[in-house]
Amino acid sequence: MTLKKVPGRFITFEGIEGCGKSTQTRLLADYLSSRGLKVLVTREPGGTRLGEAIRKLLLDPANAGRIDPRVELLLYLASRQQLLAEVIIPARAAGKIVLCDRYEDATLAYQGAGRGLGMEKIRRLLKFLPLRVQPDLTLLFDLDPAEGFRRIRKAKKTLDRFEREKLDFHRKVRAGYLRIARAEKKRVKVINAALPVKEVYRQVVKIASQTLSSNLTR
Ligand code: TMP
Repeated sequence: MTLKKVPGRFITFEGIEGCGKSTQTRLLADYLSSRGLKVLVTREPGGTRLGEAIRKLLLDPANAGRIDPRVELLLYLASRQQLLAEVIIPARAAGKIVLCDRYEDATLAYQGAGRGLGMEKIRRLLKFLPLRVQPDLTLLFDLDPAEGFRRIRKAKKTLDRFEREKLDFHRKVRAGYLRIARAEKKRVKVINAALPVKEVYRQVVKIASQTLSSNLTR
């Protein structure tokens, strides 16, 4: 594979809680780095000093029921604008492959579908933002929320503000994600996250390699 010549690219990782996307982000980063590619891993909300401060506010269980959903939406957008300005845009310009644990689809799925603010309304709002970069590829790790919950409860002692949301909320989020995937088949690839980690990883590498290689001929 001629991955070495790949210029700056942007791959995002999405899915409900417990879907394993953060693990797969790290695994893909290791894979690409081991092939001599320049990779930058970041996450949302967060990835900058300001973004990490916003992340704390958003995930703090003490804020449960205390953040208006519209303000929650704006805080995610603020964190993302800072991340784009400070990290994503410069890294891409420097020819790096940027792997981002969550991005715009999370806003559409969580705030649009989960909180009920409306996916189309948010899509329209996103168009007005000063900074935007379209991912070359989005990997959606699809999982039944009940299984996601089982995994999280096993792995964590304290649950964050979103992990405390009811199963019904996470079902709406999952449905939102799948709706995006149906509408944008070229960009969004759905992976069955119920499969063993190794098999999920095999699919991630295959799909990411295809995207990165095909980008060479663009
Ligand atoms: P993480 O735990 O995967 O890092 O994500 C933090 C939480 O923030 C997760 O519950 C999903 C949520 N989230 C949104 O609700 N909207 C967004 O735009 C993003 C990026 C994350």
